Amino acid sequence: MIIGVDVGAYVTKGVIMKGRSIIKSISTPTEDPIESTSRTIKILLENTGAKDAVSIVAVTGGGSRRLGEKIGDISVVKVDELQAIGIGGLTLAEKLEGLIVNVGTGTAMVAAYNEGRRVTHVGGTGVGGGTLLGLSERMLGIRRFEELEAAAGKGRAERVDLTVRDIVGGPIGIVPAEATASNFGRLCAEATVEDVAAGLFNMVCQVIGVLGAMAAKAYRLEDGVIVTGGLPRSRLAAGIIEETMSLFGINPVIPKDCEYCTAVGAARSLRILSSNRMDV
Ligand SMILES: Nc1ncnc2c1ncn2[C@@H]1O[C@H](COP(=O)(O)OP(=O)(O)OP(=O)(O)O)[C@@H](O)[C@H]1O
Ligand SMILES: [Mg+2]
Repeated sequence: MIIGVDVGAYVTKGVIMKGRSIIKSISTPTEDPIESTSRTIKILLENTGAKDAVSIVAVTGGGSRRLGEKIGDISVVKVDELQAIGIGGLTLAEKLEGLIVNVGTGTAMVAAYNEGRRVTHVGGTGVGGGTLLGLSERMLGIRRFEELEAAAGKGRAERVDLTVRDIVGGPIGIVPAEATASNFGRLCAEATVEDVAAGLFNMVCQVIGVLGAMAAKAYRLEDGVIVTGGLPRSRLAAGIIEETMSLFGINPVIPKDCEYCTAVGAARSLRILSSNRMDV
């Protein structure tokens, strides 16, 4: 069994893996990276009977750079985050190659081949889950994700967004009439907090959907788009990303446990990268 820990910008995620399966998982806020990693490992090992079976922990994510070579008796192996995203995305989606669009605080995209043994950093955008929360707090005074999502679920984005129909009267090119022409482009004095929340979800998730679709086309990975990270756990966010990508003929996979992608990839990388076989 192997532990993988992803020390993200705001959230530390940890998993115990047995082969391709997650035995146990946990998320805690990233405060001090060393403290958050130690706590994550401790909680993962509690009541699992795995204490003696685990001698190594694979760590990744921005905060992992500050960790030393050992945590207690357990050896620490640092895994490149892009490598972890690639291997984790393919593991969760059960694919051999694909484009992983990892939507955390920011958004990173990785093209991964041969079960993640080869990865290419495609790029990304600073627009991600952090953007949604940051704008929400500034514009609406709402800090909690769940509260923002509930508000957005009741709102009408069409009161803040301009559609293609609003501007040209119907569909244009490959774009249907109801697609967004301009996020927040409609100046409507009656827009409520709920409408603005819905507009924020639209803006962030549509940017990610369009960017992911373009990257998939550029890398010819249209049939292997995998969306992971904390944000697509939200049904609302996942739905908008899927719908946006579908405008470009792409049907992404959003795997169960998508928020643990990077942690899973860190753990799996120890096995995958030490083997050239296709059947590990
Ligand atoms: N309950 C929730 N459901 C869905 N999404 C959530 C929830 N709570 C927070 N989020 C979103 O998930 C984002 C964090 O995702 P994630 O944990 O993947 O980021 P991270 O790993 O800390 O960041 P990065 O990978 O950019 O360093 C938050 O910015 C927020 O928008
Ligand atoms: Mg992350």
